[in-house]
Amino acid sequence: MSIIAHLTDIHMVEPEARRPGGLTAAARRGFLNLGRAIDEGGRRRSFAEALRRAMALGFDHLVVTGDLTEEGTLQQFEAVASVLDEAGVDPARVTLLPGNHDVYAHANSWLDALEGPLKAYARTSAPGMLVELADLVLAPVSTARAQRWWRSAGEVSTPERRSIAHALQTAARRGVAALIAQHHPPTRVHRAAWHWFDGLLDHAAMRPVLRALEHTYVLHGHLHQRRDDRFEGESLAHIFGAAAVVEDAGALRRYEIVGETLVPIELAAI
Ligand SMILES: [Fe+2]
Ligand SMILES: [Fe+2]
Repeated sequence: MSIIAHLTDIHMVEPEARRPGGLTAAARRGFLNLGRAIDEGGRRRSFAEALRRAMALGFDHLVVTGDLTEEGTLQQFEAVASVLDEAGVDPARVTLLPGNHDVYAHANSWLDALEGPLKAYARTSAPGMLVELADLVLAPVSTARAQRWWRSAGEVSTPERRSIAHALQTAARRGVAALIAQHHPPTRVHRAAWHWFDGLLDHAAMRPVLRALEHTYVLHGHLHQRRDDRFEGESLAHIFGAAAVVEDAGALRRYEIVGETLVPIELAAI
């Protein structure tokens, strides 16, 4: 009966004094922020409030499905780490995922963050790791790909697909549910041209991998919208997206594992 808490899309920025100068950096920042105020204090408060709610309601494990930062700079990951630290969450009970925004600064920025400011979370968040709860196997999966900052597509690498298969085999052996946590939704949600810009490019290859085990669930972010979706041909929702914390500090989702099924818990406002 584990409880999973789900937050996503924090889009943390650094303090103004630590922002890189120059026209290119300013243009990138303006584009990526999509008209949102670049307000470090506001973003910290939203994330802190979302963590406070999650902790007040309680969870066995918290998953944050990517776009932790606006651009994936070291300073922005430091800000994410400091809000988590101040909230007092136990890193062993938190899995952090990278989103497209977390690798705009450079292709290795997520792996650098896991060896730097987010080191305490590497054991539960690094590619290839499995988190085993009493009734669940959880696999963090990166959909981040090297691309220019005007593109927001995702992709699952071959090693990542192998680690999903390993998670599903482990869950099947134990007779428990498997939970894949990733930034991009695993199905096509856009029309063709926009999918190339913003979708999971290899979603078709992912479908057989994810459907190899009946009790497989996916938590994702990226769309900044709460959604319950199902794989083609399934009667129950297996894919759950949450709204973005950067737009709504109350955008927490919670789920309960009942037997081998992941059941969303509807939240009353608190
Ligand atoms: Fe986002
Ligand atoms: Fe995203």
